[in-house]
Amino acid sequence: MFRLDGKTALVTGASQGIGEAIARRLAEQGAAVVLAARSADKLEALAEEIRGAGGRATALALDLTRPDEMEARLAELPEDFAEIDILVNNAGITADNLLARLKMDDWQRVLDTNLTGPYALTRLLIRGMMRRRWGRIISVSSVVGLMGNVGQANYAAAKAGLIGFSKSLAREFGSRNITVNVVAPGYIETAMTDALPEAAQKSLTDSIVLRRLGTVDDVAAPVVFLASEEAGYVTGHVLNVSGGLYI
Ligand SMILES: NC(=O)c1ccc[n+]([C@@H]2O[C@H](COP(=O)([O-])OP(=O)(O)OC[C@H]3O[C@@H](n4cnc5c(N)ncnc54)[C@H](OP(=O)(O)O)[C@@H]3O)[C@@H](O)[C@H]2O)c1
Repeated sequence: MFRLDGKTALVTGASQGIGEAIARRLAEQGAAVVLAARSADKLEALAEEIRGAGGRATALALDLTRPDEMEARLAELPEDFAEIDILVNNAGITADNLLARLKMDDWQRVLDTNLTGPYALTRLLIRGMMRRRWGRIISVSSVVGLMGNVGQANYAAAKAGLIGFSKSLAREFGSRNITVNVVAPGYIETAMTDALPEAAQKSLTDSIVLRRLGTVDDVAAPVVFLASEEAGYVTGHVLNVSGGLYI
């Protein structure tokens, strides 16, 4: 089940963390994977690893804050990776601050990377999906986009924006057999959460119904499902992957 043989996926933010796990899992299911982010070296190393394990992958240096360069970057893709069937808008940044101290630059950077970048990339890649009458667009939002969070007005606005964007596209492109969904993770174990003092980690886990942080694979698995043929009747959905942090 959930095999992706013959499909090509592009994952943004594939150089580390959740995006890297998503790329690995998609490749394991048989998809050819385009690994996109700014850090070309990290992407090359991951592509090499995936190929070493028998998968298909290629690296694509792409800066989401430079929409004017995207078309040219995509045109550089090798021919056998050029037709993207599955787009995973995963890359994202934070620049947290209380509203009174939240500078316009931090507002703009977060909106540019987390919302305008996905808009620009999706707009370019959906053309091919329309032509082929098959497509999967999955965006990684956050439960913060559903709940809000102190000190994250910019991030929450961008992540909530991604949900409205996706629901609109789901309606706009359903007749072309393109599904558009969102995954909204809660707290995921990363270098950042590992570095928190023990007391802070405990208070974090106490707020989660399943009493543990999520793993990157907890997020990658539902993305694989939403990318699959089997999820063909699911669109416009927001899948909350937060261990019950948000119910
Ligand atoms: N970790 C969590 O607890 C959590 C919870 C909820 C939602 N999320 C969301 O999940 C996604 C992945 O999170 P993560 O924890 O894996 O983050 P991460 O480890 O910080 O990785 C972020 C990824 O985005 C890429 N990126 C950043 N700016 C970019 C740009 N301008 N253009 C292209 N790529 C860019 C980075 O690569 P380069 O630096 O190489 O460009 C990196 O691969 C994000 O959207 C995040 O908001 C995370």
